[in-house]
Amino acid sequence: MHGAVDSTEAIRRWDLHARATWADLGPLDGDRHRVILLNPALFRFLPDVNGKRVLDAGCGEGYFCRKLARLGARVTGVDFSREMLSLAEERTDLELGVRYLHANCEHLEGFALGSFDVVVSNMVLMDLPDHRAALKSFSRVLAREGTLVFSIAHPCFSAPGHGWVRDDQGKRLHWKVDQYFYEGAYEQSLFSADVGDQPLLFHRTLSNYVKALLEAGFELLDLDEPKPSEEMLVRYPGYEHHLRMSHFIVFKARKR
Ligand SMILES: C[S@@+](CC[C@H](N)C(=O)[O-])C[C@H]1O[C@@H](n2cnc3c(N)ncnc32)[C@H](O)[C@@H]1O
Repeated sequence: MHGAVDSTEAIRRWDLHARATWADLGPLDGDRHRVILLNPALFRFLPDVNGKRVLDAGCGEGYFCRKLARLGARVTGVDFSREMLSLAEERTDLELGVRYLHANCEHLEGFALGSFDVVVSNMVLMDLPDHRAALKSFSRVLAREGTLVFSIAHPCFSAPGHGWVRDDQGKRLHWKVDQYFYEGAYEQSLFSADVGDQPLLFHRTLSNYVKALLEAGFELLDLDEPKPSEEMLVRYPGYEHHLRMSHFIVFKARKR
């Protein structure tokens, strides 16, 4: 576990991993977790984006920007990792018209009040140290009654040391949760240790996220803990254990 870390240190680690590991995690449409769990949940919550000004906050290599742009949205993708942004630019056809900009979600300097109709932020808020500041920035750049949809690693299942407990044959027995009330950073273990320091996950409780959302001037409209659909389970039977716990939680909120 880690002491206090600022967003510059958090991003140094994302810069390290952008090309070395993240770029290969999935196809250009998002990795399996995104295809099976996150994308359906995000699209259930998003309004019709055609013609809307949409900010993808923490866009990474840009797969969700590309999806939104194909649906007719006027998309801006921001990320604080320059390496991620350069990958996004390489991977995105110019004709989609996505605008990629370097920015820290905790500040979003340079964006005027109310400049977006929709903000989407997919798996970002648990990766930055000041989620309160980021939620306030999202609120500031959203137009009144604008929609915020964001996903995070489910805080109830992603406390430090989480994971499946298995028997001698490797069969999953149960998911282990401990230190739920610990709030702070720990190293993620999804990435190759050969590359160097692992990206950090900033763990906080579920109530902490909800309070931060309300304090930032949002009304919470809905929550989802995505499960694989029956159709997805036919295509990806290896996802059956995702019916036993929830890796992700997705929020839908409206700016008051
Ligand atoms: C788990 S990745 C998700 C990327 C993308 N949204 C996706 O779903 O593929 C987290 C992203 O958040 C970005 N990020 C972390 N802290 C940030 C910050 N303070 N401001 C902007 N982006 C940040 C990282 O560079 C990384 O691209």
